[in-house]
Amino acid sequence: PARCCLPLLLVGFAAAAPAQLFLDGKALPEGFIYGCATSAYQIEGAWNADDKSPSIWDVFLHNKTTNDVTYGSNGDVADDFYHRYPTDIPLFRNALAVQTYDFTIAWTRIMPAGRGALSDKGLAFYRNVIRASNAVGMSNICTLYHWDLPQSLQDEYGGWLSRNIVDDFRAYAKAVFKALGDDCSHWVTMNEPRTFCTEGFGPDPDSAPGVVSTFKEQYTCMHYALLAHAAAVEEFRLGGYKGKIGIKVDGGVSLPLDPSSAADREAAARTMDFEVGRDVAPLYTGDYPPSVLASGALPLKFTAAEKKMLKGSVDFIGLDFYTSQWVTPTKNCTPDSDTYPECTDQFQQDPRTGLDIGRPTASSWNFDAPHATIYGGIKYLAETYNATNILISETGMGVLNETNLPLEQVLEDVDRIAWYRGVLSAMRQALDDGFPLTGFIPWSCIDNFEWTDGYNVRFGLIQVAYDAAGKGSQARHPKLSGAYLKGVLTKGNPIN
Ligand code: NOJ
Repeated sequence: PARCCLPLLLVGFAAAAPAQLFLDGKALPEGFIYGCATSAYQIEGAWNADDKSPSIWDVFLHNKTTNDVTYGSNGDVADDFYHRYPTDIPLFRNALAVQTYDFTIAWTRIMPAGRGALSDKGLAFYRNVIRASNAVGMSNICTLYHWDLPQSLQDEYGGWLSRNIVDDFRAYAKAVFKALGDDCSHWVTMNEPRTFCTEGFGPDPDSAPGVVSTFKEQYTCMHYALLAHAAAVEEFRLGGYKGKIGIKVDGGVSLPLDPSSAADREAAARTMDFEVGRDVAPLYTGDYPPSVLASGALPLKFTAAEKKMLKGSVDFIGLDFYTSQWVTPTKNCTPDSDTYPECTDQFQQDPRTGLDIGRPTASSWNFDAPHATIYGGIKYLAETYNATNILISETGMGVLNETNLPLEQVLEDVDRIAWYRGVLSAMRQALDDGFPLTGFIPWSCIDNFEWTDGYNVRFGLIQVAYDAAGKGSQARHPKLSGAYLKGVLTKGNPIN
């Protein structure tokens, strides 16, 4: 009887298997991921709907009295995805032909008190998002944390600056896995710990929770974030869930300002250690990079048990890489210097000539360096840490004031296409050179709230009709960049 059914099973499997993907006309290996990404605070809106409690971003932006976030906007309504997901999700699929929808879960929606009881309504929303994705043939990458900590945990013990967060994150993760664990093909514990720690804390924080502190608190935040990540992975593995689990890190690639200078080359390596290795090394080796350990900058060290828990705590690593920079050592660096403890000056303009090294994007990132950024990032991860499963989990092109341009011009986003041409060529080369690149997830499926740039910097492959203050009809229009990616990835079109 078993033999009789095997062909049937195979037919069933073949029918369900995702369609072939391509890169520059060449078939991509089976299992390669092509998706698009969003995050809860940036698209959902409905900031106080149903059981949701306020997150640190809700409170941070509601408390702003100045206009320092563009047009005083916030994520209260954003893309209203909380109500529009039934049409948005099929649109992502149709416009971009993505096979995976990568979304993030708001802790405040699912576990409103930060710990303890789960909200049925919050869970139902994410179940519906997954169902709607599956119904149009997409799997999901699900992220537990994209910067929207429950405000109650911030108030109670200072959020990411306390060891308590590790236990609370573990419990939150465990509860989410129990409810949705087998429904996502990939889990991401958290998005960009470096960014939420360095922008939320420090001498001049511009992101939530906006705690003015020294740089040491940034390290404390990172330290507990890494431990929280490892605790969540431990729960996932104990639960025996089906999918893979990893993390998304950011940082960009640092290159020597003068490649012939040994000091600049050393500065570039040191910057990579501090800006990328600091989050990545513990996942692969169990500890911070030697240069970071030796710098004396770390307020906390990992215990032997923590090292054991960290080492090997990823099945894949996601790179959110958008830029690269040129670096040189800071002269006479002391603990009071702005660049301490890396002690490297970073440029996107050549300080020797004053000329732009590349055109800056709206996010002041370097537009002309997708090769350095994407190929360089993959190579660094593979060569430095032997990473074996690397996703480009975010990259994209922010355009300033897209809101003020005529719609036809916004939709013909040739600059964004140029960025993606560079990205895709770099990915092609990485694969041809044998690096373990396993997925591509552009940011973002759709225009959204770009944190401190408000709605004024747009990354979407689909446009949303609102102005720089986030007001408008909310109509959706696919951009040419989305059609371009769809053509290259799913139809086998050439990159150029
Ligand atoms: C990284 C972040 O994960 C995302 O939230 C942000 O919008 C994009 N980069 C673009 O800045």
